[in-house]
Amino acid sequence: MSEMNAAILRLPEPDLLPDKEINFLELIELRASRRQYTTEPLSLQELSYLLWCTQGVKMIAESGRTLRNVPSAAALHPLTTLLYLSNAEDVPRGFYQFLPVEHVLKKLDVAEELAQDALAAFEQQAMVQQSAAMFLWVADILSGIRTYGRKVYEYIYLDAGHIGQNLYLTAQALGLGACAVGRFDEAALHQALTLDGEEKKIVHAACIGKI
Ligand SMILES: Cc1cc2nc3c(=O)[nH]c(=O)nc-3n(C[C@H](O)[C@H](O)[C@H](O)COP(=O)(O)O)c2cc1C
Repeated sequence: MSEMNAAILRLPEPDLLPDKEINFLELIELRASRRQYTTEPLSLQELSYLLWCTQGVKMIAESGRTLRNVPSAAALHPLTTLLYLSNAEDVPRGFYQFLPVEHVLKKLDVAEELAQDALAAFEQQAMVQQSAAMFLWVADILSGIRTYGRKVYEYIYLDAGHIGQNLYLTAQALGLGACAVGRFDEAALHQALTLDGEEKKIVHAACIGKI
């Protein structure tokens, strides 16, 4: 059962996630974009796994910067994970923000009409409608500029690529389907999620579902 207090959803502890016996080359070679999903819901354990492997915090340095399961230029980690969960066990449908230090999900107050506008921004891609979860990565461009200066976009997109690849590999390890989604109407998506598209910008997205 999910443990949902007010707007906070606790996820299964990363320490308790069962490890997988993996053939590494097979994992790399079998990874593929999968765009068709069943109607079976994602479990909270699978969700926890995906979030741990894509953004999990292993250590907090004295500077306050975090070391995570993915690399990030200057360990800045300027990306925030938003999720649209439409088919996760015991979890109400809607938008959530992952808080990586606490390893919890915070429910976001996005009206159903705006949530539908956000999904529509993915231009009728059937996999988006079918998926159990959409991952959206929002970049904090201002903190990126302060740290990276003119290389802000290069580094932010490289960070997003590392996260995206870990999502693909984790999905493969769990027997789930994943597909990156770069085709979306940026302006419509930002408007639906009340992001300005300049200081806060969605730089990458992916679908996840059971196959
Ligand atoms: C940045 C990026 C954006 C992508 N956007 C989409 C997309 O919008 N729709 C889609 O069906 N596939 C998308 N893909 C998946 C690619 O089409 C897929 O990776 C490519 O066809 C190679 O297939 P493979 O991933 O199975 O090796 C995207 C992949 C990447 C890396």
